[in-house]
Amino acid sequence: MNFIVCNNYEEISKKAAEIIAELVKSKPDCVLGLATGSTPVGTYKELISKNKSGEISFARAVSYNLDEYYPISPDNDQSYRYFMNANLFSHIDIPMENTHLLNGEAEDPDAECRAYDEAIKNAGGIDIQILGIGRNGHIAFNEPDKELIAPTHKTGLTEDTIDANSRFFASADLVPRYALTMGMGSIFAAKKIILLANGASKAQAIGELRSDKITTSNPSTLLKLHPDVTIICDKEAYGE
Ligand code: PGA
Repeated sequence: MNFIVCNNYEEISKKAAEIIAELVKSKPDCVLGLATGSTPVGTYKELISKNKSGEISFARAVSYNLDEYYPISPDNDQSYRYFMNANLFSHIDIPMENTHLLNGEAEDPDAECRAYDEAIKNAGGIDIQILGIGRNGHIAFNEPDKELIAPTHKTGLTEDTIDANSRFFASADLVPRYALTMGMGSIFAAKKIILLANGASKAQAIGELRSDKITTSNPSTLLKLHPDVTIICDKEAYGE
């Protein structure tokens, strides 16, 4: 694992966008693994500006997002589909049909999850997976637990995550209690992983990531087993 410690959020965003831009330039038909949450928003802004200036084009790129609430309509302004359209897809030249999110309205969520893993495999696998990290160490909706699940699956949200995400909803009661999420195996199949973290609220989770231990009580620590992971974080998240 490689740590890049930045002075501030802007530097994190620029660094992450540079790495993604290099991929898009060298492999225009790349498969991007994307994440929601507040952390990657700055990276998406940088990518939008690189796209608008003509430095990079997403015209042949394909994307798969990590997760989606369940149940939720894509038109709900709290859905991750809505978030991705608003924060990235509507501002760049990626064809909308190349962008993929799990369907939060799927009648058969298990079939939806199986088909999603299959689609990623058929697309050639994810070239770069962007990850945020929960303050409890979750990646996507793989929450701390005795066991973690490898394939994409339906899962319940922990109280901590409901609490953290309630800031976007009118009240905590409105946060969906379930999500469809790429599993640890689906994430690990990515060729390269970039995890972004900023702020002191992530320091404990990142501290465990910096230690030698691997534990399902902090799912991010499993990333130590992946051959190509870069953590881009600020000093606060790094614990300095
Ligand atoms: P955040 O969420 O970027 O909004 O902090 C990250 C996560 O929960 O994965």
